[in-house]
Amino acid sequence: MSVRGGSDVRDRENNRNMTSKETVRVTYKGKEIELPVLHGTDGPDVVDIAPLNKELGLFTYDPGFKATASCRSELTFIDGKKGILRYRGYPIEQLAEHGNYLETCYLLLYGELPNQQQYDEFNDKITRHTMLHEQMMRFYQGFRRDAHPMAIMVGVFGALSSFHHSSINVTDDKGRDISSIRMLAKMPTIAAYAYKYAKGQPFIYPRNELYYTSNFLRMCFSVPTEDWHEDPVLSRALDKIFILHADHEQNASTSTVRLASSSGANPYACVAAGIVSLWGPAHGGANEAALKMLMEIGSVKRIPAYLERAKDKNDPFRLMGFGHRVYKNYDPRARVMQKVCHEVLEHLGIEDPLLEVAMELERIALEDDYFKSRNLYPNIDFYSGITLRALGFPTSMFTVLFAVARTVGWVAQWREMIEDPEQKIGRPRQLYVGPEKRDYIPMDQR
Ligand code: SDX
Repeated sequence: MSVRGGSDVRDRENNRNMTSKETVRVTYKGKEIELPVLHGTDGPDVVDIAPLNKELGLFTYDPGFKATASCRSELTFIDGKKGILRYRGYPIEQLAEHGNYLETCYLLLYGELPNQQQYDEFNDKITRHTMLHEQMMRFYQGFRRDAHPMAIMVGVFGALSSFHHSSINVTDDKGRDISSIRMLAKMPTIAAYAYKYAKGQPFIYPRNELYYTSNFLRMCFSVPTEDWHEDPVLSRALDKIFILHADHEQNASTSTVRLASSSGANPYACVAAGIVSLWGPAHGGANEAALKMLMEIGSVKRIPAYLERAKDKNDPFRLMGFGHRVYKNYDPRARVMQKVCHEVLEHLGIEDPLLEVAMELERIALEDDYFKSRNLYPNIDFYSGITLRALGFPTSMFTVLFAVARTVGWVAQWREMIEDPEQKIGRPRQLYVGPEKRDYIPMDQR
């Protein structure tokens, strides 16, 4: 599939070499060096710190990588101050309003919105890879029925690497493309089967005539005893939710996939590592944690007490679905998420008291100095749980849904890294603070 040529390649080369005239001067122990400053298309400039070690023998220190750019990327741009999110330059609000998830996948993978022929070809390719090898089904039987579906996802998706290992050649574009298509196509099937396994219901095979998200909903909610009837409003709502979750620059799970893949490891196993990282409550697990928090708060009158707990350093309680490493403004995805939440509840005629708790919690928190002074706003996870529960999913499936949607981001970032001439195996250094050199002490002298 010829997806990018000519001016796009030139633009990409120009983007890569956007060194500026500016430099950062560093003086250390009487020696002064200049560090080159690199410009991107948008966002903060970066300082190339390689000379720090080469010339001055210094490392940089940045726990949690709050101020560290790990790579050049053309995929996603976030402006945390302005609350901006764009995939390949397109604002998330426009993609959610006018596009669909599969089109967004094409955009993230190949750099441009597809024309109808490209879209149809891509859709056909994905459709033909949605089934799992029959032996894959046996992996589910090894789990307890009450296993957390994220644990099942890690195990089963990782097992894909045993079915697609010898056939993988990540050194060529065709090999990378078929691996990308397979991972994108099979993730919803693996996720739906994890849900069915927990319910004790039979697995439902994908159907080739259904669109990606509709196929996923049918695999989750249909049963062999009756026909499944799609509710287009709910399918569209979930499709928008998938678009919102598709990619998000160098977040923890994406960085995990990049670091794992930097050694040349099997991409299916590397995406499984991304699923593991996403599971944490500080990351993708926050949607499950946020709904549980709203259920624990239970009513508007209990909000003040929980806000006090969130502010108390001695209390581990945090407002789940609030705050973000990058967004110091409203997460643009949360705005769209809130709108989708209202649409779904209205369509289903559900009066969910937790929505009232969530909106009142947001209102009070955003007027509270503690949250305002720390630029803590609702993030994508604050309203997603209420919506996903209304769509019929149990809380244990919320992060699984995040993983389904984020697979395209992990895969697109994996491909960008593999194809980046600058990338090499990731190997951060450290500030050693352990014991100085000391000699071995024989057992009878300890
Ligand atoms: C996702 O990176 C991504 O892009 C992730 C993601 C994606 O799409 O991939 O956007 C998805 O993971 C969204 C975030 C979901 N997590 C949560 O909602 C969990 C609750 N949020 C917090 O755990 C926290 O806000 C983080 C982890 C999201 C961000 O933490 P940071 O950037 O490390 O900020 P911090 O912990 O240094 O907090 C700064 C201050 C601290 O107080 P002080 O030490 O300055 O006094 O803000 C406080 C924190 O205690 N704080 C909170 C809080 N979040 C931060 N206080 C109460 N409740 C919170 N939610």
